[in-house]
Amino acid sequence: MHWTTDRSAPSVGLVVITRTRSPIRSNVGLKAVMAVTGILLVLFLIVHMLGNLKIFTGETSFDHYAHWLRDIGTPLLPHTWYLWIQRTVLTVAVVAHIVAATVLARRARAARPVKYAHRKKVRGSYAARTMRWGGVIILLFVIYHILDLTTGHLNPQGDASNPYGNVVADFAPERWYVTLFYTLAIVTVGFHLRHGAFSAFRSLGQQTPRGERRARAGALVLAVGLCAGYLAVPFAVLTGLVS
Ligand code: HEM
Repeated sequence: MHWTTDRSAPSVGLVVITRTRSPIRSNVGLKAVMAVTGILLVLFLIVHMLGNLKIFTGETSFDHYAHWLRDIGTPLLPHTWYLWIQRTVLTVAVVAHIVAATVLARRARAARPVKYAHRKKVRGSYAARTMRWGGVIILLFVIYHILDLTTGHLNPQGDASNPYGNVVADFAPERWYVTLFYTLAIVTVGFHLRHGAFSAFRSLGQQTPRGERRARAGALVLAVGLCAGYLAVPFAVLTGLVS
């Protein structure tokens, strides 16, 4: 918190003291936190999706890739250190993203003098309306997903030395409900990403109808591309293309 003296305020020979927020806690600062953490999370999603697609190159190649993840940075960094640094950065990014979103939403609500009489008219797009619950669903999915494919506790095979086998066991045809659950979660990620990326592109690009159309198209391409890449893996296992 900063204390400033407001010399422009009407006063009779007095210095009026006002409170201003530190830059990071201002609305603009919080939106920057949302954008920077969002970009980090999207970068992770792109790299993770590309890594998952290596499943199409066969078991040896995929397992080799998964083991290599633990060796990134060696010998400069000890075994698995890079992975733990990445996990720490991602966790901090997720927490900061949620805190900034919650504070911004509370401020927006507090700034409204009265509740909207015609709520429906000002509700915005489907993606915009589902941001909060979408975020909660994604968080719950990631917790389940880590227990499934990272620690193996919820995986039918759960063999850390054979990630390919874990994925194949996970999405086996008789476990179609797991594929269904993953599909719902990935589509939720897609909607969340479409709105988040659209907001970011719109802020960065030209503030014109053309700029807005481009931002909308760019966000849609990103969201659909990521959804398709992620869904390819469970559906390839479900249909027997990968076994
Ligand atoms: C069908 C789609 C997906 C598949 C097949 C998949 C596969 C995997 C696998 C095999 C691992 C374990 C990697 C290892 O420890 O060697 C993993 C870890 C992980 N996945 Fe996914 N994933 C998918 C979708 C997602 C999505 C949509 C998200 C985020 C919203 C996500 C976030 C993570 C995270 C945070 C980890 C933990 C990484 C770590 O150990 O540090 N995954 N995934």
